[in-house]
Amino acid sequence: MFKNNKSIKLINYYKFINYNLIYNNAAINRYKEDNFGISEDKFKNLELLKKSIINQKNCNLQKKAKNIVFSDGNPKSKIMLIGEAPGANEDQEGLPFVGRAGILLDKMLAAINLDRKNVYISNIINYRPPDNRRPTEDEIKQYLPFISKHIEIINPKILVLLGSTAMNAIVGKDVVISKMRGKWLEKKFGNCKTSVIITFHPAFLMRQPAQKKMAWIDLKMIRDKKTNLKI
Ligand code: URA
Repeated sequence: MFKNNKSIKLINYYKFINYNLIYNNAAINRYKEDNFGISEDKFKNLELLKKSIINQKNCNLQKKAKNIVFSDGNPKSKIMLIGEAPGANEDQEGLPFVGRAGILLDKMLAAINLDRKNVYISNIINYRPPDNRRPTEDEIKQYLPFISKHIEIINPKILVLLGSTAMNAIVGKDVVISKMRGKWLEKKFGNCKTSVIITFHPAFLMRQPAQKKMAWIDLKMIRDKKTNLKI
């Protein structure tokens, strides 16, 4: 259609005032704006999963916690990291790894050119265990279906298990981290097939800084895998 000067000006004006956003009756699609452009399906599945964790009837951790700590980072990422459980800072903010261990985790990621915009982070347990105690076997059993579903929804190509709680929950109880770290394993979660690597938890590395050299080996393996998989 031929457009005269007046209509061109009007169109430009509408664009300028962001007409679609202001006058459109349709709901704003926030997945695109706020959630790294993930598909509507993935967004809904994550929301459903979060709701089913919140709606549990029999979780003592939930009763004492301030917030659910579901995840942080980019749900579109092909690299997912899993820690143990939230601590006091995480409980306060509702985000994983925001305390001292989180600062070290960010440094570990930065050492291989990653940050929270290009990885996705969660925990085996989504509520803080009182006094930062380790989650019990029963608690881990209760949360395992949730984290398994979480992995399936995110569908990472690389899954990093931080520490022995995450390792024992996902890989099995009969293994020790000193033997299992720094090796690639293949694992399936529903339709998700992923390469799994275990490394030390940043809180452990703060207590045992001599082990950082081993963690550095693991980080370089993650960096190389990322390059090989063209992630
Ligand atoms: N340690 C964890 O394992 N997860 C957190 O979110 C914080 C500390």
